[in-house]
This record gives sequence, structure tokens and C-alpha cells, in this order.
Amino acid sequence: MLSQVLLAPLFAKRASAFTSDSFAPPAECPTCLSANYTGMPNGSLPLSPWVSGAAYDQIITIWLENTDFAAAAASSTFQKLAAEGILLTNYNGVTHPSEPNYLAAVGGDFWGIGDDEFYAIPSNASTVVDLLEAKNVSWATYQESMPTDGDGEFAYYSHNYLNASAPDYRYYVRKHNPFVIYNSIASIPDRALRIRNFNDFAVDVNASALPQYVWITPNLVNDAHDTDVTFVSAWLEYWLVPLLQNPKFNTNKTLIQVTFDENESYTIQNTVYTVLLGGAVPSNLKGTNDSTFYTHYSLLSSVQNNWDLGNLGRQDTNATVAAVFDFQANITKYQNTKPSSDPMMNLTGIFPGPGNTEIWTPVLAPNTSAKGAGSGKTYYNASVIDLTLTSYTHLNLTAMNAVNPDTINPNYTYNEAAIANATNKPTSVPVYIAPSTTSGSPSGTASGSKSASSAATTSGGAVKLATGAGGSLAVIAAGIIALL
Ligand SMILES: *[C@@H]1O[C@H](CO)[C@@H](O)[C@H](O)[C@H]1NC(C)=O
Ligand SMILES: *[C@@H]1O[C@H](CO)[C@@H](O)[C@H](O)[C@H]1NC(C)=O
Ligand SMILES: *[C@@H]1O[C@H](CO)[C@@H](O)[C@H](O)[C@H]1NC(C)=O
Ligand SMILES: *[C@@H]1O[C@H](CO)[C@@H](O)[C@H](O)[C@H]1NC(C)=O
Ligand SMILES: *[C@@H]1O[C@H](CO)[C@@H](O)[C@H](O)[C@H]1NC(C)=O
Ligand SMILES: *[C@@H]1O[C@H](CO)[C@@H](O)[C@H](O)[C@H]1NC(C)=O
Ligand SMILES: *[C@@H]1O[C@H](CO)[C@@H](O)[C@H](O)[C@H]1NC(C)=O
Ligand SMILES: *[C@@H]1O[C@H](CO)[C@@H](O)[C@H](O)[C@H]1NC(C)=O
Ligand SMILES: *[C@@H]1O[C@H](CO)[C@@H](O)[C@H](O)[C@H]1NC(C)=O
Ligand SMILES: *[C@@H]1O[C@H](CO)[C@@H](O)[C@H](O)[C@H]1NC(C)=O
Ligand SMILES: *[C@@H]1O[C@H](CO)[C@@H](O)[C@H](O)[C@H]1NC(C)=O
Ligand SMILES: *[C@@H]1O[C@H](CO)[C@@H](O)[C@H](O)[C@H]1NC(C)=O
Repeated sequence: MLSQVLLAPLFAKRASAFTSDSFAPPAECPTCLSANYTGMPNGSLPLSPWVSGAAYDQIITIWLENTDFAAAAASSTFQKLAAEGILLTNYNGVTHPSEPNYLAAVGGDFWGIGDDEFYAIPSNASTVVDLLEAKNVSWATYQESMPTDGDGEFAYYSHNYLNASAPDYRYYVRKHNPFVIYNSIASIPDRALRIRNFNDFAVDVNASALPQYVWITPNLVNDAHDTDVTFVSAWLEYWLVPLLQNPKFNTNKTLIQVTFDENESYTIQNTVYTVLLGGAVPSNLKGTNDSTFYTHYSLLSSVQNNWDLGNLGRQDTNATVAAVFDFQANITKYQNTKPSSDPMMNLTGIFPGPGNTEIWTPVLAPNTSAKGAGSGKTYYNASVIDLTLTSYTHLNLTAMNAVNPDTINPNYTYNEAAIANATNKPTSVPVYIAPSTTSGSPSGTASGSKSASSAATTSGGAVKLATGAGGSLAVIAAGIIALL
């Protein structure tokens, strides 16, 4: 057995120096702007007509961290959410630790990754973004505490809003932002601008501009990574519970998935508490359980099935691990295949691939004859993929003293020319009104590997959104955001 397997349980332990166990809201409301979110708002996404789906027109997936099914099930908040939706009692992460799970749900594979290190998946690996864009289904991810849209750095430390006397805190990490790890997304400014922060979320909800496919990554305290189920329950009460009542977030065609990337106990099956909520859940199914064997690949297959998309020719087309949500399969008449026994999804570090330096292979060609849950073909970018590369004798790059090319930071920057050239860039760029007072609130300067010129000074206080003259959106800062 490989050393990664033996070491694996260590990765599940909380590695941070988190000093407070109590939740405090980062903003006055889920759709209020706040300097606590680090990145400033950047205008709302352009409105585009919604493409109808068979069971829902919008899916919002919310990713929490490292919690055993039983721990979440003991929380009254999770019980309350389950009572309003469908509790999936056999939904599983696909491996450990975090990063490979995020990548799997977006790209149909976890590329052999068995750790949380820096990876950049080559541009010939396609993702759900390719499938959605081919059908004009809009998308975005909102990453809480991310400093700049499309930010690809490994981690970012910003003002500790839970404890003003503590040093800057690591709230944002690349490993929970799968979109930026795929070069096929991050290298294209049009796409990178859809990797947005929570102030952008507030602006987009208020402008009724949330896209059809939405991925939410809360920061490292609010997603339970550095905290626990009590803390994440308080965040859900603050953030999700009111949003469920907001028609600009939850329409009668919206499906909301609340899930966890992985469980915390590596020695048991990787089942994570997952609830389907929102106006698209048939009312007769509210408060019911569904025991179908699902994994994060089911998110991909369900989205493909809903909008009749193409597929990635990877594990998204493996019927054993990619059952379509049952309530949806009933609507689309899709036949799920029940596995004779549920595969174990807790295996860690033992798979070859571009993300495993000791059992390395390049990205292999997708299976272009695979059948997905939508009727579309397998998507690939013919100009960058070698479809004949279907197998490879793996290499131990460590033994060869060679650098794994898939761990090199591509250092993408989105220069003004590239951004100006983008076709779906955000509109209504907000106007920042400099603060008139700072009223003695706690303040701190965001720090990290970004240069000071792209950071903002922050202090406590509220920010209100207003529509300025000429229809442009103005952000009126009351002692909050000052551009350096
Ligand atoms: C930032 O978070 C702290 C802690 O909850 C809060 O006191 C402060 O008001 C927040 N700032 C804003 C702008 O909401
Ligand atoms: C997507 O939108 C573009 C631009 O409006 C249009 O030309 C194209 O036909 C649309 N594609 C599909 C599959 O609807
Ligand atoms: C906002 O978008 C512009 C390009 O339009 C980009 O230069 C800037 O970094 C973005 N700001 C944030 C906070 O993401
Ligand atoms: C706040 O941070 C300071 C400095 O790190 C620490 O001494 C203090 O215990 C923290 N307060 C709480 C409530 O955790
Ligand atoms: C769903 O929402 C739309 C738009 O608000 C409304 O016209 C329609 O009647 C609603 N349908 C149901 C079943 O509530
Ligand atoms: C996975 O879980 C099963 C069932 O609890 C257990 O027998 C097995 O040892 C676990 N595998 C690993 C690698 O921890
Ligand atoms: C499908 O998934 C199962 C469980 O992980 C695995 O054993 C099998 O090899 C996969 N099939 C393919 C074709 O990848
Ligand atoms: C789906 O249809 C099957 C067969 O008709 C039925 O047994 C099952 O309860 C349905 N499930 C849902 C979630 O509606
Ligand atoms: C994908 O791209 C990487 C990096 O250029 C290359 O090593 C690999 O062979 C490519 N794989 C395929 C299937 O084209
Ligand atoms: C790869 O090589 C390193 C260094 O020689 C060695 O420690 C490790 O066990 C090897 N891994 C595999 C999977 O063979
Ligand atoms: C990205 O920047 C780092 C640090 O300067 C450097 O080591 C690395 O080689 C750069 N990557 C590329 C692809 O240029
Ligand atoms: C502008 O867009 C075109 C078409 O998408 C592209 O070919 C070109 O490289 C882009 N220019 C820049 C500076 O990004």
C-alpha cells in the first residue's frame, strides 16, 4: 500500500490556527456588500435568456467541507433544510482529501490527485463549462473571500473579521476553486471573469443576474473547513435560510444542492450529507429521503441530463458512479443503473494520473464513444487533444527527479486588453464612493502574494447598493472600501 494511503487520515485534521469557535456574519445580509468578503464588487454579469431544462432552469451547488454524514445529521439546521427538500442518504465524495473532489465535480476526473497541493490541469482537459457554453447555459462560481475575480493564487490572507486583534487570516484557497485549476477555464479571460467573489454575488442577486449554473464556495471558516458543524450551521442560518425566501435567488425553477466535498473519517465510506432544495423540488417530495447511490459525478450527469448536454467522456459517463438525481430521472425518463454493490469512495492517493507525481501519466484522451446522461456527444477541443493517447505506462517523477509539469503555476494574468476584448464581461461597473469617516472600526490591510496596488484597505461598516443616474449601479461605501 502506498504511503499516501497511510498518511491520508492526517490530511483530514484541521490544520489552521483558528482561534474563535463562534460564527459572526461577514455582512449585514447575504445580499449586502461587505469589505469582509475581501474582493470588491465588479458589476453584475450580463443578463442572458435562460435555456429551459427538463427538471430545473437553474442549479446552485453549495460546497461545504470535511464533515461526516452523522455529524451533519445531528444538526437541527441540516434537519430543517432536509425537511424542506430531498435528503440524499447515499451521496458520496469520490476520494480524499478536498481538492480532487472539487475537480471531479467539474471535470469528471480527479486526475490521480491524493493531496491538496498546487495543480493546474492542462487545457486539453475539458469541463462542465465547455458543455454549458455549447448550449448557451450561463454559469459562474462565487468564491467567498477571493481577492480578485479569476484569482489563481494558492491561498490569500485577509483581515480577520472574526477577531480584529488576530493577524490576517487564510480565508481563500485555490484548492476549493476548481474552475481556476482548469487551464481550459482560467486561461480564457471571458471565463475567468465568471470566477467571482461574494460581493459580486450580492450585486448579481440584486440585479437578478445570477446565472443558470452557480457554484458557491464559502470561505474556510464558513464552510466548516477550519471550524465545525455548529459553525457551518450558523452560517447556513445566516446565509442560505433567508436566500431561500428571495425570489432573485430561489425561483420556482431553481434546484439548490447543499453538499460536502468529503467526509472527515477516511476509514468509512465517503458519504456526505446532501440535500436538494429550492422551488424545483416537487412539493410531494419535500421532507423525503432518497437512498440512490450518488457521487459528485452525479452533479455532472444530472446537469448534462437536465439540459441535454454533451459529456466529458470521463467518470461522468460511468453509470456506476454517476446516477442522475432520481426525482429528475423520473421526469426525463432516464434509466439509472443500480450498482450490484456500492463501490468504496474513500480510496486515496493510489490512482495514476497527471496529479500524482509518483504514478504520473499525462491527461489521457476521453472516451469519445461514451454515452452520457444527455444526448450530446463527448466534448473535446480538437486543436489541443491527442485522441490517440488512451493509455500510458506511468512514471515515478519523484524517482526521476523530474518536476511534474501539472504542478507549475501558469501565472495567468488578465490584462486590460484581454479583459476589454472579453465578450461576456460584467456590465454596470460599480462606482466606488470613498469613505467619509472611518469611525474607529477595526481595520486591516489585505495581504498575500498580490501586490499592494490590487489590494484594498478595509474596515467595519455597511455598504449599500444604489442605482445611480443613467442606470449605472453605484456602490455607496459608508466607511468601508477605499481603493489604494
Ligand atoms: C464584518 O464582520 C464583523 C463580524 O461579524 C462585523 O462586525 C462587521 O460589521 C462586518 N462588516 C460589514 C461591512 O458587514
Ligand atoms: C448560442 O448563442 C449564440 C449567440 O446568440 C447563437 O449564435 C447560438 O446559435 C446559440 N447556440 C445554441 C446552441 O443555442
Ligand atoms: C474587476 O474586473 C476588472 C476587469 O473588468 C479587473 O481588472 C479587476 O481585477 C476586477 N476586480 C476584482 C475585485 O475582481
Ligand atoms: C483573538 O486573537 C488574539 C491574537 O491572536 C488572541 O490572543 C485572542 O485569544 C483571540 N480571541 C479569541 C476570542 O479567540
Ligand atoms: C413560477 O414563477 C413564474 C414567474 O414568477 C410564475 O409566472 C409562475 O406562475 C410560477 N409557477 C408556479 C407553479 O408557481
Ligand atoms: C474505506 O472504508 C472501508 C469501510 O469502512 C474500510 O474497510 C477501508 O479500510 C477504508 N479504506 C481506507 C483506505 O481507509
Ligand atoms: C466506474 O466506477 C467504478 C467505481 O469507481 C470503477 O470500479 C470502474 O472502473 C469505473 N469504470 C470505468 C470505465 O472507469
Ligand atoms: C421515480 O419513479 C419510480 C418508478 O415509477 C418510483 O418508484 C419512485 O418513487 C420515483 N421517485 C421519485 C423521487 O419520484
Ligand atoms: C494534454 O496536454 C498535456 C500538456 O500539454 C500533454 O502532456 C498531454 O499529452 C495531453 N493529452 C492529450 C490526450 O492530448
Ligand atoms: C517513487 O519514488 C520515490 C523516490 O524514489 C519513492 O520514495 C516512492 O516510493 C516511489 N513511489 C512509487 C509509487 O513507486
Ligand atoms: C510562475 O511564476 C513562478 C514564480 O515566479 C515561477 O516559478 C514559474 O515558473 C512561473 N510559471 C510559468 C509557467 O512561467
Ligand atoms: C481577443 O479576442 C479574440 C477572439 O476571441 C482572440 O483571438 C484574441 O487573442 C483576443 N485578444 C486578446 C488581447 O486577448
